[in-house]
Amino acid sequence: MLHLLRHPLAAHALTHLRDHTTEPATFRALARQVGLMLALEATRDLPVRSHAVNTPLEPFTGSVLAEPLVVVPILRAGIGMVQPYLDLFPDVSVGYVGLERDHQTALPRSYYCKLPPLAGKRVLCVDPMLATGGSAVMALDLLREHGATDLALVVIVAAPEGVAAVHAAHPGLPIHAAVLDRELNDKKYILPGLGDFGDRLFGT
Ligand code: PRP
Ligand code: URA
Repeated sequence: MLHLLRHPLAAHALTHLRDHTTEPATFRALARQVGLMLALEATRDLPVRSHAVNTPLEPFTGSVLAEPLVVVPILRAGIGMVQPYLDLFPDVSVGYVGLERDHQTALPRSYYCKLPPLAGKRVLCVDPMLATGGSAVMALDLLREHGATDLALVVIVAAPEGVAAVHAAHPGLPIHAAVLDRELNDKKYILPGLGDFGDRLFGT
């Protein structure tokens, strides 16, 4: 249940995201590009219903989206992945889960949660970095507690440790990632990774 982006444009953008000389403005633009590719993949199997229209020439029965979509960024870095959903899905709702990893222990602490109704909707939890998986598991637990049943996780860089942690806590949950990196270092940062995504996105 790990789906990886396999596209030359994704590899191109990721290489520049990893480059420590990439400035925040370019970093944000690249994150949005990769986020757009991931959004298309993560919604590839959205249910549709048939819908009849008249073209200028004749009647036509096509399909339209059948189910509302909810995107939930994990603050703060997840904000960098939201815009593609706003651009693509006019009726999308956005919820927020605020989590912060402790610098010493790497354990997440929850500081904010604001969610729309989740039952009966496709819910995509977005966060660019899946490292130990502690933040993702805490966010996914919260989303399930608030009624989400059709749930997936969308990340840019995944570490094997994070994928294993998510699948241990939420067996079978789909994870969409741009890339699967090698491992974590002793400070629980992803290698080769791209550093602290939130700091690079917001120039802090
Ligand atoms: C980063 C990242 C994830 C988390 C991943 O956020 O955006 O939320 O770390 O690490 P984990 O898989 O080990 O939990 P951070 O806590 O640095 O907060 P920020 O988004 O405010 O920078
Ligand atoms: N959070 C980040 O922003 N980067 C990592 O490598 C790990 C967690």
